[in-house]
Amino acid sequence: MKKYIYLSAIILSLYSCESNTYESIEEPTVIVGKVTYATNVKSIIDENCIGCHASGGQLIPLTTYTEVKDALVNKKLLDRIQLQNGTSGQMPKAGRMAQDKINTILQWNIDGLLEK
Ligand code: HEC
Repeated sequence: MKKYIYLSAIILSLYSCESNTYESIEEPTVIVGKVTYATNVKSIIDENCIGCHASGGQLIPLTTYTEVKDALVNKKLLDRIQLQNGTSGQMPKAGRMAQDKINTILQWNIDGLLEK
């Protein structure tokens, strides 16, 4: 009998772990380990920036690792994405991104601008 109680306790705890995992997927991105361009940054840039910053356009392109890194190091990308709404020079022009996306890019810089 005791065995069954232990067994059901284990099964219960397995299920509760599983549902926690599903919940945390819906919360703002929690990054485990170092932020990299390929895993964390590219998708944010693709979604918010390349509509205007495509390759072959008038503006600086932000479509590759080297381009985004160069914009961060030499073109004040970090300053631009942190400007308050309505400030001139703000990127994206339509308004600040969600704070967790801005934080991901700040953390990428802190972690050493890794490609992957
Ligand atoms: C709606 C179009 C649009 C979007 C979307 C957009 N930008 Fe821009 N961006 C511009 C324009 C236009 C300029 C040039 C004018 C200026 O410097 O403000 C510019 C300039 C920049 C510059 C300065 C380039 C230089 O030569 O000094 C950086 C860095 C930049 N954008 C980064 C970003 C990032 C990062 C995103 C996404 C988070 C983004 N932009 C999204 C239109 C856009």
